[in-house]
This record gives sequence, structure tokens and C-alpha cells, in this order.
Amino acid sequence: LSRKVEMTNWEKGHYINYKKMNENLNIVRGRLNRPLTYAEKILYSHLDDPHGQEIERGSSYLKLRPDRVACQDATAQMAILQFMSAGMDSVATPTTVHCDHLIEAQVGGVKDLARAVDINKEVYDFLSTSCAKYNIGFWRPGSGIIHQIILENYAFPGALMIGTDSHTPNAGGLGMAAIGVGGADAVDVMADLPWELKAPKVIGVKLTGEMSGWTSAKDIILKVAGILTVKGGTGAIVEYHGPGTNTLSCTGMGTICNMGAEIGATTSLFPFNDRMYDYLAATKRTEIGDFAREYAAELREDEGAEYDQLIELNLSELEPYINGPFTPDLATPISKWKEAVKTNKWPEELKVGLIGSCTNSSYEDMSRAANIAEDAMSHGVKANSLFTVTPGSEQIRATIERDGQLKTFEEFGGMVLANACGPCIGQWDRKDVKKGEPNSIISSYNRNFTGRNDANPATHAFVTSPDLVVAMTIAGTLNFNPLTDTLKDKDGNEFKLKPPHGDGLPRNGYDPGQDTYQAPPADRSKVSVAVSPTSDRLQILEPFKPWDGKDALDVPILIKAQGKTTTDHISMAGPWLKYRGHLDNISNNMLIGAINAENGEANKVKNFKTKEYDAVPATARDYKKNGIPWVVIGDWNYGEGSSREHAALEPRHLGGLAIITRSFARIHETNLKKQGMLPLVFADPADYDKIQPEDKVDLLITELAVGKPMTLRVHPHDGSSTYDVKLVHTFNEGQIEWFKNGSALNTMAKKAAE
Ligand code: F3S
Repeated sequence: LSRKVEMTNWEKGHYINYKKMNENLNIVRGRLNRPLTYAEKILYSHLDDPHGQEIERGSSYLKLRPDRVACQDATAQMAILQFMSAGMDSVATPTTVHCDHLIEAQVGGVKDLARAVDINKEVYDFLSTSCAKYNIGFWRPGSGIIHQIILENYAFPGALMIGTDSHTPNAGGLGMAAIGVGGADAVDVMADLPWELKAPKVIGVKLTGEMSGWTSAKDIILKVAGILTVKGGTGAIVEYHGPGTNTLSCTGMGTICNMGAEIGATTSLFPFNDRMYDYLAATKRTEIGDFAREYAAELREDEGAEYDQLIELNLSELEPYINGPFTPDLATPISKWKEAVKTNKWPEELKVGLIGSCTNSSYEDMSRAANIAEDAMSHGVKANSLFTVTPGSEQIRATIERDGQLKTFEEFGGMVLANACGPCIGQWDRKDVKKGEPNSIISSYNRNFTGRNDANPATHAFVTSPDLVVAMTIAGTLNFNPLTDTLKDKDGNEFKLKPPHGDGLPRNGYDPGQDTYQAPPADRSKVSVAVSPTSDRLQILEPFKPWDGKDALDVPILIKAQGKTTTDHISMAGPWLKYRGHLDNISNNMLIGAINAENGEANKVKNFKTKEYDAVPATARDYKKNGIPWVVIGDWNYGEGSSREHAALEPRHLGGLAIITRSFARIHETNLKKQGMLPLVFADPADYDKIQPEDKVDLLITELAVGKPMTLRVHPHDGSSTYDVKLVHTFNEGQIEWFKNGSALNTMAKKAAE
């Protein structure tokens, strides 16, 4: 196992470390002394401290060392800006950035791409120059969707990757544990901090039998989503195993893992098999395939491995499924479909069929879809609904252009969109229906929440396999079952569509298409990062100031928040996302959703100096301008929701010192520590009620020590006597250093400089 095999053809010097992984695994095996699942093997072989790490599925927090980081263009902006503020000259872990989220579908691939390049110029320029500067691989707009590019170029069996996008698990199709995270986690790994993950439970899905006819890999996850529901995978890795796994193509397994995000799973994965080997070979990585074969015994579950939950599926009996509308776990088998359409009064006419996206745009998907379209055209009929195709990558687009499927789609009536997310993420200038008009669309995508595709809450979006999308598009109605129903040909004669077939891998190999990759230059010292000082979308971050070593006296309470305060209340999304690369601008949404305990209103707090009521961000800015630090008082589970790093960056940027609550959501608590804030908790939750919004407090920070409480001295506004409150915290030694240095990144920068 000590051979030197590169992780990817695009980089030099990043070798697959099966040897180290094997050593770590043996250490953990000696400690646990039980058979392991494949998911556990990947995680435990990437432990920062395999000897000392506490390991209990579902409860301990694992400190891990991922092999790679991948970011899409929307989330990469703040991640890189933060990384830059650490002052390191290269990312510590191989990282790539992918431009796929900001391209709007309007008239077709070429023009849409050109327009996006123009509109997003400053963002793309920033990403391209910062990637070059900090040693990050950059995939330009037009290269394709992040998860497809990762599968084609970077994923390998047994690896651990984090990605700043929820469908990162797609790489599980190549046996990689690929986990979607927030930007803050990506920054940690780029800066060489270990990454923390609550040890997941493992849900086993045992596959037997073999699919045929109209059933495809997508139907496996559509069915599993119906069983587990949108919450059923929370805190768990879904691990497929059993003889049925060998009957699936690698990209089909990718589809299944991709959509595992819809059941809330940490990730999903398949054990290494020959189909993965074939795919590695087809994508010019035979050496990786051979190396994986040497380590194959550890690239699958141990005999007798135990799952926290087990689901068994016989693929020979599996029907095609259609899920939706409005939620991906409402699963209807094709045999009950027409009845469901009728009973639920879903709009029968099918307006648009959409294939592609990161979920379903493999060569196999495109070949099967084209095969159905050809079948229809041989009877003289074409698409009866609008039809769009988003290739997952430039390589897929070029290959299906060469092999004819693209031409088939166009003759069939389809519009080929850019190699990007497009309508899947709402980047769709849809013209055929008015907002508010009820209508149906069907796609091969993964997510179908209200308004996701076209911002029309009345659109009924269904998700299914590309095969069924094409079949329904020919029928032009949802009231159709291709397994049993006939269509009319150009002369009015009835015919039945043939079950689809298509090559799993291109017989003549992949055509790479246009070169869309930008490697970091050999000499990065001369690169300057492009950020215009007048930009309203991007802003260079200054490192936060270190602690002055003193207690904080006579500090005002910016807001005493009451009830639920989620990361959405702290940093709203929607229109604010435009500013996610500009901390000062996006800070104008800080806590505007939180309810002020004093008046029951959102975004209305009293400025203690002016005695006037004002917006929360404006009040914080006024204090900051006058050099007055402030604190927030919060209720239970403060910061629940997402890992959104802006929710921790904004209060720090606007001069906040501490957030004092009845309790924290764990991820937000850690994010606050990373940014150099003090997340503190009332030892007695009843003290929350005692403190009034206009009181002032002294925070005895000099008491900060591991496992020791800290004193909060309260000076009541009503003139009653000063009293002390005990605060507790979860800081460890390393995290106290973060606070002292001003942030975790400052700490890493200091270490790197030593
Ligand atoms: Fe993009 Fe949709 Fe996938 S947004 S990454 S194509 S889920």
C-alpha cells in the first residue's frame, strides 16, 4: 500500500494515502474490537487522533482530517475571504472551486453562459484570482456542475471530502464519504484545523435482485425517500450494500447518493466494486482503480457489521417512482400514479420536462433519455411539453454532442442549457406561465420544495428518473403510464414506447470538450486578488482584533431576544444572499428577525445613548462607532438551523463581544468561538428572566478558563442593587486561544508564522 498514486490527474503531489488509512483503522479496530461498517471505516481512518478519540456512534464528536475540499461559487466567496484573512499563502488541504450556481437559464447554453460571465464578472474575477493566489483549482463557468466534476475527476474509494453544497454526497457513487458542510467548516480544513463531525449512526440499505424495464437507479432513492421521509436520515450515513449494488452503474450509484441529501442524511455511499473500477478507467484513472483493488478489503463493510437501522430492497420488484409535489418524500409508484394525480387534483397538463442537473446527467442518463426520444420520433411524434436538458459537465456535453444524443434532444424539441445548475437552483427565466398560476413540471432533479425552480409557489414540481421525464414530456400530460399506456403516432395509430436502454459508459471514451480548468500557476507570489474597493458584492476581510486582556465593564445589551432565534433570524437569506461576499453589507441583516423581549417586535431596539428606537444593525453600528462593545441575551437553543457562518461573522464585525443564552445550538456556538466571540450560558436558566433589556453588565473575562464559570455582574436599569450571575461555557484550551487571538483563523496564521 505504500505506492505513490496521485489523487487526481489535475494536481501533482497529493497522493492517496491508503497506507496511513490502514494504520489508523487498525488502531481503532484494536480499540473497538467489533466488525465495522464501510462508513465507519472511512471516518475512523481519517481521525486526527485514532488512539485517543472517543468513538460512540450518535454521540461523540469526531475530529477528522478530510482529503479534499470542494466549494461552489456561491458559498466559496465568504469561505475564501475568510481564508485570506488568516494570511496563509496556500490552502493546507487540496481544494477546488466550481462555477455552477450563478448561470441563469433563458435562451440556451451559449448565450446564457455569456450573459452570466458578464453579470457575475466581479465574482468570477475574484474567485479566479484568489484561487490562483492560494493554490486552489478553479473550474470556470461552463465547466459543469460541482458534483459531476468531482465524480469525473476527484472522487476515489475510501476518501473523505467536505463540500460547501448539500449534494456533495454524490461522490458516494465512487465509494467516497463526501459530506455537505457550511463555509466555516471548509475554511477550517483549508487552514489545517481538524474538522468536527458528530459520529453518525449508520443506516444500511441492502439491495438484492436486478432492475429491468423502466426502473432505474433514481427509483431506488425515490423509494428510500418515501420510506425514510425528509427527516429520516438525520445524523446518519446511509450505506448501501448487498449483491444488488454490483448491478448498478457508478453514475447510477452517484444519483442515489446525491439525492440522499433529501432525507437529511450526513452522506450516502456504496462499497467499492467493479463498476467503480470501470468508471475510474473510463475517466483516465485506471491506476487509482488498481490501487483501490489492493485496498479493497477495507473499501466495504466487514462481515457482520451492524447497522442502526436496516432497509431491504429487492430491485427485481422495484417500480419506477415519481415523487412530489412540494416535497421529495411523497413517493408514488407508477402503478398508483394516475390515480394519485386524479385524487389530488394535480394539474394534469405537463408544462415542462427538465432533465440533467447534478443528480441525473450521466452518459447513461442521457443515452437512455435520447433512446426514448428517438423511439417517439420514429413514430413521428416529439415533445408535447417544453423540454430542457442541462448537461452536468462540459465532458458530458461534448461526448453527447459527438455521439448524437444532443442532436436527438434538439430534434425532439429540447433546449440545451448551459453546463450548470440552472432551473434546479431557480436560475430560470421562465416565461410560459404567470406567477401564481397552478401548473405541473417534472424533472430529473433532486429537490422540489415550493418555488425552488421558478419562484412560483403554485408550480407543482415532481421529481423522477430522466426516463419518465421524457416519456411524460411526449405525452404532454401527467395522466400517462409508459408501462401500460399507448400514445398516438403521426397517423393516429396507437403505439407503446419501448423500455429505454443506453450505454453506461461511452464506447469511444469521453470527449473532454473545451478546456475549462484553471490550475494554480507555478509562481503564485505575483498574483493579486481582484476585489474592487467600490464593489457592493465583495469585500476583503480584515483580521479581527485580539482580546485586550481586560474585563469588559458597563456593557449594554443590544437586544434581549425572546423565543426561537434561528440562524435565519440572525442572518436572513433571500435577497441578502447577493451580499454573502461582502460582510459589511450583509451585516445590515444582523438579527433583524429576532424578537425583542422588551416590545415583542423584530428589528426595533432602544439605543441606550440616544434613547431612540432603531433597527438592530443600525444600533450596533452606533455602539461600534463609539467604541462600545455589546452583548446579546438569547433564549433556548439560540442559533439553531444551519451552519451559516455569517450568523457568527456579523455580530463580531459589528462589535459584539458575547452572546449569553439559556442554551445554544452546538454548531452556531462553535462558529461564534471561531470568530472570536464569547458564547456563554446562564448556569441558572431563570437568570434570563431577571435581566432586563436596558440593564448594563460587567463581563469578568479574565476569569475565562477551561471548565470554570465566569461572572456576569448586572447593573439593573431601575437602580436596584447590582447582583452577580454565573455563566458557564464549553471553551477548551485551544478555543480559549482563538478568543485571545481574536479568531481561530488568527490563531492558525500565528502558528503558520512561527
Ligand atoms: Fe446545482 Fe441543483 Fe445540483 S443547484 S448542485 S444542480 S442540486
